[in-house]
Amino acid sequence: MKGAHFLLAISLLALASSFAYASDPSPLQDFCIAINDTKDSVFVNGKFCKDPKLAKAEDFFFSGLNIPRNTSNPVGSTVTQVNVAQILGLNTLGISLARLDFAPYGGLNPPHTHPRATEILVVVEGTLYVGFVTSNPDNRLFTKVLYPGDVFVFPVGLIHFQFNVGKTNAVAFAAFSSQNPGVITIANAVFGSNPPINPDVLVKAFQLDKNVVKNLQSKFWWANN
Ligand SMILES: *[C@@H]1O[C@H](CO)[C@@H](O)[C@H](O)[C@H]1NC(C)=O
Ligand SMILES: *[C@@H]1O[C@H](CO)[C@@H](O)[C@H](O)[C@H]1NC(C)=O
Repeated sequence: MKGAHFLLAISLLALASSFAYASDPSPLQDFCIAINDTKDSVFVNGKFCKDPKLAKAEDFFFSGLNIPRNTSNPVGSTVTQVNVAQILGLNTLGISLARLDFAPYGGLNPPHTHPRATEILVVVEGTLYVGFVTSNPDNRLFTKVLYPGDVFVFPVGLIHFQFNVGKTNAVAFAAFSSQNPGVITIANAVFGSNPPINPDVLVKAFQLDKNVVKNLQSKFWWANN
């Protein structure tokens, strides 16, 4: 009987966790425009809030996302972020945006993850081969070739990429379920960390020759955001 209750409890727990969810905390006020100064302010949710009486339209505003960015760089892509760092009024609201520009013939937003956000992306120009990989043990790859008007979702935390397989520039916009999604570019974090990871760790982890690891660690890893 005890065993049966235990089993029931375990299955209820499993059920509960299969429905569990999490996100940026819900705001406790209309808005909380981020400020750095603690003077005359209240600390909520990672940033200090500006006195709401001093709020102005500019606190919720960003301009220039129509402007193509320069993609002449080692990866051939540039990400223009519009998160709480650019729009202070996004603080506590759990949402942000980015513009992605890709050079023709292989502009790449290299494999990366957003530790705090799911991403939903819409292509407005060009052709993008996109994909993400699920967590262990399956490491299942989902990919799609996207054309203007196509939308794709990258679930929170999963490694993903976007690659311009067209002959023209590609442009996409992405929304994120966090005011501050964060970016971990895999190659940059692993081979370009500061200070460098002990090469023996990477030799074993990536099944590489030590000279290859040292070569990778000596490279400059461009950050496209
Ligand atoms: C807050 O501090 C950051 C980093 O020092 C700075 O970039 C930003 O402009 C500051 N924001 C305000 C509203 O003062
Ligand atoms: C783009 O960036 C490259 C490399 O920094 C530079 O040489 C080039 O002049 C830039 N192009 C434009 C249109 O600004």
